Amino acid sequence: MRRDADMLLLQGSFLDWLRREAADQAKDVPREPARFLTWFEQLENNGPGQHDALFSWLEHQADLEQMRWYLRQEAAGEAGFDDLTAYTQVKLPERVKLELARNYWDEMGRGNAKGMHGPMLHRLVEALDLHPNIETTMSESLALANAMTAMATRRDYSWHAVGALGVIELTAPARSAAVAAGLKRLGVDGKARLYFELHATLDVKHSAAWNTEAIAPAVDDDPSRAVAIAEGALIRLSCGARCFERYRRELW
Ligand SMILES: [Fe+2]
Ligand SMILES: [Fe+2]
Repeated sequence: MRRDADMLLLQGSFLDWLRREAADQAKDVPREPARFLTWFEQLENNGPGQHDALFSWLEHQADLEQMRWYLRQEAAGEAGFDDLTAYTQVKLPERVKLELARNYWDEMGRGNAKGMHGPMLHRLVEALDLHPNIETTMSESLALANAMTAMATRRDYSWHAVGALGVIELTAPARSAAVAAGLKRLGVDGKARLYFELHATLDVKHSAAWNTEAIAPAVDDDPSRAVAIAEGALIRLSCGARCFERYRRELW
């Protein structure tokens, strides 16, 4: 327990550092729900790391070894959207909690083991024989997983987590579609590709629902939450941007 306390202090200073980076841009976001959503949704186009050249390269050029290296990094740094959502929903207001519950239920394959998203990713990891582990994972990828876990598990960062998870739903479709197309080009079979094929389309719906049912009512109830949600989204995207930059350095 003493070690836990040390680690929580370290985690807190890590989050402080990430927040300082996001704070400048987040402090002036609109506090009115509809205008805030407009700001939030434009992160798809111009947020940190968005439409990084890595993804068209994965789609059109990477060979199977390079694709496997990329996926091993991503799998090792995948904290699990389902568990992050479960941690985040603790004590949230009713309407927001219900949206996180609906999203979680989709993550659970709506009660069908074959449709669960976590195991779906695991099937790709098995099919490509990836063996992800911490030792061979870039620090940027571990930092992304740690930032997500920190925001989801700390009650003082609940609204940051709502923003960070929401921006994943917003930005995952384009990345997933590129990776799915790259896997198809490389001859990986449809069953193994399913995780990326699914998120290329399903997350468009998840994002729309998250924005109208979680983010908008949260900001409507308390406009100051807009800043925390924005910081969380920017933290998530900046951590992602650092991953893509590192992956390009390693792969190109
Ligand atoms: Fe998912
Ligand atoms: Fe989703």
